[in-house]
Formats: sequence, C-alpha cells, structure tokens
Amino acid sequence: MKESYFNDQKLPLVIEPNGNGKSKEALIAWLQDNKDSFYKKFYENGAVLFRGFDLDTPKDFEAVAYQTDNRLKNDYYGTSPRNIVKDTKYIYTASELPGHYPIMQHCEMSYVVQPPITLFFYCHVEPEYGGETPLCNFRKVYEQMDPKIRAEFDSKGLLTVRNYSGLENNSKFNLFELKKWNELFGTTDKAEVERQCKEQQMEYEWLDGDKLRILHRTPAAINHPLTKEKVWFNHIQVFHPTAAAIEYDYIHKTQGRAKTLFWSLFLNVMVKVKNLTTKPIDQSMNVLFGDGTPIPDSYVQHLEELIWKNLVVFPWKKNDVIAIDNFSTSHGRLPYEGKRQILVCWSA
Ligand SMILES: [Fe+2]
Repeated sequence: MKESYFNDQKLPLVIEPNGNGKSKEALIAWLQDNKDSFYKKFYENGAVLFRGFDLDTPKDFEAVAYQTDNRLKNDYYGTSPRNIVKDTKYIYTASELPGHYPIMQHCEMSYVVQPPITLFFYCHVEPEYGGETPLCNFRKVYEQMDPKIRAEFDSKGLLTVRNYSGLENNSKFNLFELKKWNELFGTTDKAEVERQCKEQQMEYEWLDGDKLRILHRTPAAINHPLTKEKVWFNHIQVFHPTAAAIEYDYIHKTQGRAKTLFWSLFLNVMVKVKNLTTKPIDQSMNVLFGDGTPIPDSYVQHLEELIWKNLVVFPWKKNDVIAIDNFSTSHGRLPYEGKRQILVCWSA
C-alpha cells in the first residue's frame, strides 16, 4: 500500500492501494499482515485514512472497522441525534444535526467514564459543498496552551453540564436545547434513567418542567492510555456557551460565504443574549471549572485559536474510511450544503 500525508501536520496518515488490489479483502489482508507496524503508525499519527478502496457499502465499512478494532460497540451517551444504519450492527449516521450547525472539535464523549477508543467515519455520499470532518492533534493543543491557563485547568478540573428537555418538549433542533432525556437513555422510565446514570457515574438531578440535568466531573486533560502523552480531553470548545460563536468566526474566515457571515453575526448576538438571561449551570450544555465557576470567554478564544492553528481540513472522497485514535485526536464538522452522508462507528 502507498502511504502519504496531506501536509506536515502528519494527520491523517493516508493509505491507498498501490496496484496490488483495492478490494475490501485486499485491505483486510494487508491489515492482518501489517498489524504491528500499522498500530505503531496509527498511534503516532492519531488517524489513518483509507482512500481509494472498493468499500461501497456500510457493511464494507463495518468489516474494515472491525478488522482495525474488533471492540466495536453500539451504546451512545453523546449529544448528537443519530440513527442506526439498516443491515449493520454498529454503524450509525454521524449526526442528524442540520448542515449549517457547526460541530466543534472534540474527542468523542470525552466526559463519560469510558469514552470510545477508536472512532471510524465513512463517506457514503460525498458532500456537495463543505462538510469536511477536520481533525486536530489534541496533544499539541495541550502542549501549546498558555502555561498559566493550562495550570489553572489542571488544578481545578472540570464540571460538564447537560440539561435535557422534558418529554413534553416538541421543538426540533433548537440550537440552545438538547434532545429529550428519553432519547438519550432510550426509555421514559425515570428509575431506569437513574440506574443508567449511576452505572455511568453521572450525577443527575430532575428539574422543573421534567428536565434532567446531568453532571460529569473530569480532569481537563488525560494521559493517553497507551503512549502516556498528555492530551487535552474535554468538551469546553463544544459546550461552552460562547464556543459556537467563536467557531463560526473561524468558519466564516474559511468558507467566506454570505450565509457564514449571517450565522457568525447571529450567533454572536444570540450567545450574548443567552448568557445575560441564563445562569451558567442552566445552559443546555456547559463546561465549568470543577469548583462550579465559569470558564472565561478569553480562555475559550485562546483554545479555539490553538485548535484552528493545528486543524487539518481535507475534502471527503466517496468510500473513504478514517480511523481516529479518540484519545489523542479530535474531530468536528464544517457546515455543508446539499447531499452528504457520513457514517460512524466506534470501539469501546
Ligand atoms: Fe463526534
């Protein structure tokens, strides 16, 4: 197989057929034969992109993902609306959030007790416009952070807050509201929800209007389970109330369309209004310092600057499969228009 990089970030490592077979079987056989060197490179680089192979169906994707990591799972405690793909056991749509929604860089489910280990994305339908899945080396983000800010995060730790709507809520895709709690837990039985919360070591609180608050206490950074490197590992840049507005400023600089200008201005106003009228703990999502105090906007600005400095953006090609080391490398989504179908699975 041919190995290359898009740029000097060395993320992802691109693996393409070199003439001796581009079938699913050829790729799987190559993975079996090159196990040790493959995993060494995978953990060094943080992500590997398989491009140019005949992986035409979600089942082909599932087979390659399973060969790469046979610990695939199908439980999900994240915030994105997702649907399972027919005829597969582990494959989901990546996110049903509307195309103009920004999905900021994150390591998947960083706030839960056992986050996914390897994440896989598959391009079933190439985006018509935008819709890239940028990657970022979160080891570099931690390393390059202002030492004072980093020390504050390290000493205080984090409190991640999610406030889920009650069962009566019928608004769809409100930017400032999460899905209903029964959609997260797959049940309307509160006792079962509480059981799952305890099992996942999540603190929970039932609020007025049948809402459910979930709290996670985590450090801001972790040691990579295998390489022991320090990694920025949390959802501040996704859940912090000002994050989406800061992100859209960068998106507008990248995509430069009238629509991105509109969303950038709109979000800046909406976020200001929301922050004036809603307490930090009552935001639909938020990340606070571990002592419950808010994280300053300037820290989020600093963080986003580092993320965009290290961000790798590359267009999807049909049948691409990317494997991401979730404990070192983040992913996100740029806004898109038209058709796009990216599928996902993960191991845990
Ligand atoms: Fe994600």
